[in-house]
Amino acid sequence: MAADGDLRKRRVAQAALELVAGATTIGVGTGSTVNFFIEALAAHRGRVQRAVSSSEASSARLRAAGIAVLDLNELSDLDLYIDGADEATAARHLIKGGGGALTREKIIAAAARRFVCIVDDSKIVQTLGKFPLPVEVIPMARNLVARQLSAGGGRPVWREGFLTDNGNHILDVHGLTIADPVALERELNQITGVVTVGLFAARPADVLLIGTPQSVLTR
Ligand code: A5P
Repeated sequence: MAADGDLRKRRVAQAALELVAGATTIGVGTGSTVNFFIEALAAHRGRVQRAVSSSEASSARLRAAGIAVLDLNELSDLDLYIDGADEATAARHLIKGGGGALTREKIIAAAARRFVCIVDDSKIVQTLGKFPLPVEVIPMARNLVARQLSAGGGRPVWREGFLTDNGNHILDVHGLTIADPVALERELNQITGVVTVGLFAARPADVLLIGTPQSVLTR
């Protein structure tokens, strides 16, 4: 099964490579699907010279592939951002942050003109929430935020032992059925101590590439 999943991830990563033609600088996200994309970039050296990256892990992989990693502040605009997701709907609303890189991912998505999300078909859902929603929090606010998330009906679980690249903690919120992702994202963003909510709904993906066992679908 795992090998089958890898095949779909590889296939969708390869399809994303076709979209980068002509882009000198792109945004690159984090995760196992993106790792296949970086592998594809490495195999086509010269197609992309520079990238901004959503994590230290992806930055290291990009540099190893011969791609210069820039600070987002060095750019005045960004055409394209390629990243994965943990869950995605037909409306291209996403849950992200399974790898803990949600804050930098949200920043790059906000900066990019076009956000192309690459997933395998196991990530497509009718309603978001089966995958626990990652919420990055300032460490001293962890219990304060957790109490408010519980009061709202979720079951937050501290991702103990994990620190984000920004030095923060993650609460994974279980038990949610997210009927209105835009409203929930707005609501959770208001909780003091929350840095980033792993819902990408106010700024959804512009294009969803879905790897299936046979092909790649575009939504
Ligand atoms: C990283 O923080 C996440 O948002 C990833 O984009 C997401 O977890 C997808 O990862 P995989 O491609 O490994 O499933």
